[in-house]
Amino acid sequence: AGQSGSGTGSSSDADVGSNSVLTYQLISNPSFSLALRENPGGKKQPELVLERALDREKQSSFELVLMAVDGGDPARSGTVQVRINVTDANDNPPVFSKRIYEARVAENLPVGSLVLQVLATDADAGSNRKVSYSFGNVPDDVAMLFSIDSESGEIRTAGPLDFEENSKYTFDLEARDGGGLTDKCEVQIDITDVNDNTPEITILSLSSPVTEDAPTGTVVALLKVRDRDSGENGQVSCELSGEAPLSIVASSVENWPGRTGP
Ligand SMILES: *[C@@H]1O[C@H](CO)[C@@H](O)[C@H](O)[C@H]1NC(C)=O
Repeated sequence: AGQSGSGTGSSSDADVGSNSVLTYQLISNPSFSLALRENPGGKKQPELVLERALDREKQSSFELVLMAVDGGDPARSGTVQVRINVTDANDNPPVFSKRIYEARVAENLPVGSLVLQVLATDADAGSNRKVSYSFGNVPDDVAMLFSIDSESGEIRTAGPLDFEENSKYTFDLEARDGGGLTDKCEVQIDITDVNDNTPEITILSLSSPVTEDAPTGTVVALLKVRDRDSGENGQVSCELSGEAPLSIVASSVENWPGRTGP
């Protein structure tokens, strides 16, 4: 919707008497009507009056034809064309194309990479249509790891991601038009694992030396092996190299440290 105009028109007829009595007519337009106003001098002036609410987003201008008819016989008429432009009011908020935007990226994504792009549109015109994007109330880690381009809506990485640190980020974004109307959306970013961790071996205990009469099956060393990656990337197999009458036996993690040698 927008600002309306009411215009006053004035016509004249050089004839005198009934030949100069003018009637006015507005050629069919449901948005405007004609009213006659008598000014202090007694002269009647037609006024163009707005009949219903305008909506610039539906119709941004009107072409009206005003006709004045005199009282002569035969009557003579004159017409004038009136163009009315409707200016924009900020009556539409920006609207995000989705309520929730989702992306899935690998944890080794280089800093500055595009993660996803959001879009909000606004039906108004000019600055009322111009949308800028910003983070809502986001945790510090989100603000440190991601950046949003206020004009394009592009979300990029701003720091190194780490699946082992955090595998999912959820935060709000805001779109604001030039007149201050806003919309919100949610962004969900899933981080996927990359095999970026090497297995770590820790010796928890070691019995050395071992007596030569130690029975077969004696536990000589207790080892802990782990890999911070997940899935197949985190599965570890152990093997022993070198010449020794020893073998590696898997024991479940849950048993340690309750477990002692036999
Ligand atoms: C109305 O809009 C038209 C098209 O944009 C423009 O050419 C014209 O000058 C405008 N008229 C007024 C009175 O603003």
